Amino acid sequence: MDRKRMIYLDNNATTPTDPRVVEAMLPFSMNTRQCQAAITLFGWVAEEAVDYAREQIANLIEVDSKEIIFTSGATESDNLGLKGVFEMYRRKGNHIITVKTEHKAILDTCDHLEKLGAEITYLEVNREGLIDLTELEAAIKPNTILISVMWANNETGTIQDMKTIGDICAKHGVLFMSDATQAVGKIPVKPKKVGVHIMAFSSHKMYGPKGVGALYVSRKNPRVKLTAQMDGGGHERGMRSGTLNVPGIVGFGKAAEIAKNEMTQDAERVSKLRDKLETELSKLEEVYLNGAKQSRMPHVTNLSFKHVEGEGLMMTFNQNIAVSSGSACTSASLEPSYVLVALGLGDDLAHSSIRFSLGRFTTEEDVDYAIQAVAQGVNHMRDLSPIWEMYKEGIDLNTVTWSEH
Ligand SMILES: Cc1ncc(COP(=O)(O)O)c(C=O)c1O
Repeated sequence: MDRKRMIYLDNNATTPTDPRVVEAMLPFSMNTRQCQAAITLFGWVAEEAVDYAREQIANLIEVDSKEIIFTSGATESDNLGLKGVFEMYRRKGNHIITVKTEHKAILDTCDHLEKLGAEITYLEVNREGLIDLTELEAAIKPNTILISVMWANNETGTIQDMKTIGDICAKHGVLFMSDATQAVGKIPVKPKKVGVHIMAFSSHKMYGPKGVGALYVSRKNPRVKLTAQMDGGGHERGMRSGTLNVPGIVGFGKAAEIAKNEMTQDAERVSKLRDKLETELSKLEEVYLNGAKQSRMPHVTNLSFKHVEGEGLMMTFNQNIAVSSGSACTSASLEPSYVLVALGLGDDLAHSSIRFSLGRFTTEEDVDYAIQAVAQGVNHMRDLSPIWEMYKEGIDLNTVTWSEH
C-alpha cells in the first residue's frame, strides 16, 4: 500500500483549515511592524475585525451578532452554558435534563454540577440514537431549569428532532440548550427557528482554526442570563473576560461565511461519496450501520464489521487512512464507546466499529481507495481469525463453552 498517500476521513475529530481561512487570518497573525501597528497598537482595527467576524457567524445561524459570545472552543462553550445557567437560575430550580450520548464536555460538566447540588436526568436513546420525546416531556418537573440536547452526534451523526424538543421546552417554560458543534457549518442550523436558547459550537469543526468557539445566548424571547465563568476585564458583555484571540476569530468568521455560501453543495457532494462508501463496504458480510440512516449528518457513516476489532483494522491501513474507532476523545482507552453502548450494541459490535467522517476536501479517489483498503483489511483480519472461522462453520458463538485453561 502506498505509504505516502494520506486519506483523511476523520473530519468529526477536526477539519483541516480551509486555505481561504488561513489567507484571511494572515494579516492578523504576521508579526511585521506594519501589522503590529495596525492591529495591536490601533485596537480599533482588531475591534472592527472581530465585529465583522461576529456578523459573519451570526449570519450563518441567523441570530443577532450581539447574541454571539466568543470562547476558546465548544468545550468552554458547553461549560459556560451549563454552569452559567445553573448558577443564574439555581433559585428557580436545580434540575437539568440531558442525554446519555452527549459529548464528554456536557456529561462531565453535568457530573461537576451534580456535586454542587444539581439533579441531572440522563435520557436513554433508541437503536438509532434518538431520544423518546414522550419520555423527555415526562421527565420535566417543576424544578427543571434546562434541557440540553446535542444537535448531531459526533460518533454516529444522528440528528435529533430539534423543533419538537424546542416546542416541548417552550410549552413548559424550560430553557433549551444545544451542543451543535457537529452540525454548524455543515447543515442549516437556525436556533431561533427551533426554539434553542443557548448553543455551543466550534471553529475547528467547520474548517476554521483551532482554539476558538462560540456560545449563542438568546437576548430576546427569552432574554437568557448566564453567570460568567471567567471573571476579569468584562469582555464579551461580561460573560467571558479575557483578551480575544483576534486571528482565530477572524478565521472563524471567514469559515462561517464560506459555510453559508457552500454548505448546500458541499453536503450534496459529500453525501453521495458517503453513500458510495457505505454501500460498497456493506457488500462485505456482517456489516452493521450504527445510528440513524435517515436523520443523520450527510458526511458520516459509522459501521461495525462483526468479529473484526476496530483498532486492529485501523492498523492494517498502515497509517494511510485516518478514521476513528469509538469517540475521538476516548479512543486512547480500549473501553467500548459509551455512545454505541447506549444505542444497545454489545461490546463485540461496539469494539468493531469504525467512524468514517468525510469532508469538504474528500475526493472520490479518496473514497475509492478507502473502500479497497478497508475491504482488504476486514478480509485479512477475518482470514486470521479463528472466531470468524467458527462463525463461518455455523457455530453459534454464544453457545460455546470456552475452556478455563
Ligand atoms: C459534540 C461535540 N461537542 C464538543 C466538542 C469539543 O469541542 P472543542 O474541541 O472545540 O472544545 C466536540 C469535539 O469533538 C464535539 O464533537
